[in-house]
Amino acid sequence: MCGIIGITGCLDVPEAILEGLARLEYRGYDSAGVALQVEDGLWVSRAANGSKSLADLRRAVSGAPGSCRAGIGHTRWATHGKPSEVNAHPHQDCKGTLAVVHNGIIENHFEIAAKLSAAGHELVSSTDSEVLAHLVEEAIAEGASLVDAVRACMKKVRGSLAMVVVHASDPELMVAARRVSPLIVATADAAGLVASDVPALLGWATAMYALEDDEVAEVSPGGVLVSDASGARVEPARLEVDWDVGAAQKGGFDDFMLKEIHEQPDAVAGTLMGRLSPSGEVLLDEMRIDDDELREVEKVFIVACGSSYHAGLVAKYAMEHWARTAVEIDIASEFRYRDPILDSRTLVIGVSQSGETLDTLQAIRYARRWNAKVLVVSNVVDSSMAREADGVIYTRAGPEIGVAATKTFLAQLVALEVLSLYLAGLRGTLYPAEISGLLDSMRELPAKVAQALEGSKDIFDVAARFASAEEFFFIGRHVGYPVALEGALKLKEISYLHAEGYPAGELKHGPIALLEEGTVVVGIATRTRLWEKMMANVAEVRARGAMVVLVANDGDEETAALADATLWVPSTHPLFAPVLDVIPLQLFAYALARARGNDVDRPRNLAKTVTVE
Ligand code: AGP
Repeated sequence: MCGIIGITGCLDVPEAILEGLARLEYRGYDSAGVALQVEDGLWVSRAANGSKSLADLRRAVSGAPGSCRAGIGHTRWATHGKPSEVNAHPHQDCKGTLAVVHNGIIENHFEIAAKLSAAGHELVSSTDSEVLAHLVEEAIAEGASLVDAVRACMKKVRGSLAMVVVHASDPELMVAARRVSPLIVATADAAGLVASDVPALLGWATAMYALEDDEVAEVSPGGVLVSDASGARVEPARLEVDWDVGAAQKGGFDDFMLKEIHEQPDAVAGTLMGRLSPSGEVLLDEMRIDDDELREVEKVFIVACGSSYHAGLVAKYAMEHWARTAVEIDIASEFRYRDPILDSRTLVIGVSQSGETLDTLQAIRYARRWNAKVLVVSNVVDSSMAREADGVIYTRAGPEIGVAATKTFLAQLVALEVLSLYLAGLRGTLYPAEISGLLDSMRELPAKVAQALEGSKDIFDVAARFASAEEFFFIGRHVGYPVALEGALKLKEISYLHAEGYPAGELKHGPIALLEEGTVVVGIATRTRLWEKMMANVAEVRARGAMVVLVANDGDEETAALADATLWVPSTHPLFAPVLDVIPLQLFAYALARARGNDVDRPRNLAKTVTVE
């Protein structure tokens, strides 16, 4: 999500840091900052001017005092605390003698911040990251060296982090540490480097090493020393990288879309992080709508466009089933023109990865005019929708660059399922033990998403068999229906092939007339409640000569027997199945689009965010 760069010992540190940050720009960012080791101590500058922040920072750095021996830089994509100068990194301790940049999410930051404040620390931002600076400060005050202080800090925090710390007392040293979020340390000619990802280091590094979980590195112009959580020296794993900057920005994938599809385990894990308590409760920190108000809600409307609408459709099934609340779902561009009945006991949920889609924004504005409570699910902190809503649930998928939504869609699905269970808890429609059991299944999702990706490795071979087809139908029942819609949308968007998503049971009421030899029908046939009925629908299409591709649970040969090709996914709770079932469909669309030579990141006629009506 955020980008980190740190450099010590080269000739022009500020320029190298700015160049490194520019190379991380592709990740998307809302603010940026640097801390430079200059003659009189640390010099820190931050800018929060959206995509112009780096230009602002460059201007500020040109006025930095004296020569500089080392420094760290950061591009921020907000997850906790809105994009603003005070929330931008680096963060500092109370005395301004150290500076920290961080990528990840500190799950127990509220708890830590309260203890730090009680101990007299002055925290100035609303980020989770700032606690790191004060924890390191505290350990140093107790006599620890910088490296031991970082290790001590790591022991106190839960969650994911890649962090780099510099201290004015040792101007050429950077201490880097990681857990879950990646961090790379590197050596160069008489210089030491650290970065969140490879592109920032290409051309400079002579050797790169990936830090493992809970490892701490001391990076200085003389080299890199890595130790584990106990302080014992370890030999870091050397990375063999032969990418150019462009390939490295795509993480070695051919395009951003494929990279983002493979980032889905992290997108799901990030969205769940800190929200499923060990004792089996759902925690929603930015909810802001009172629990009592939510209990009194009589009706829920979900408004969204495109993929976000499909995520909303899945949520309708989950919310009605678990929270027993009536849910209507509307395409946002239709909502305010149909005179919906709204009042203060209505909850309107706007789902939008960008938080800027004009149709959805206008729909939530309309809802507010009618006194409805408005909750927004957005991937962009402080987006227009997030600012105007009563409450927000942020998906933490990181910036999505490919026009076709992939990782943000999965993140929306899990965010909305978490919300459904939260409402069920409030309304008492599920027993705590039932919620706790469902949360346990949810915790398995990131690993299962990774498994689904692994299981789709032969997707290019499968797709090649259908490369000459011109007509595609995607069918599913129950929550398989929104998955079918999403599979068809992905195919349309990037391959430009004609694809329709249908509820499988509806096919025989008309569209089945379109089926002929060579039409491809893709069915969502995982073992959910209506599997038998789904298989009857599959038999109907086979009888009309269609070629059948089925999404089936791993090892389900009974389902595979009715298919010309099978796309395998792990099994899970039926209402979580969309999170996994959609993955091979994203890849199927991707493979067909690539086979047709299309630019999958920038499909024709489409914009990533639609800000016109
Ligand atoms: C999805 O692949 C599309 N690019 C598009 O349908 C998108 O989901 C829609 O425009 C909504 O965008 P939003 O989530 O940013 O509001």
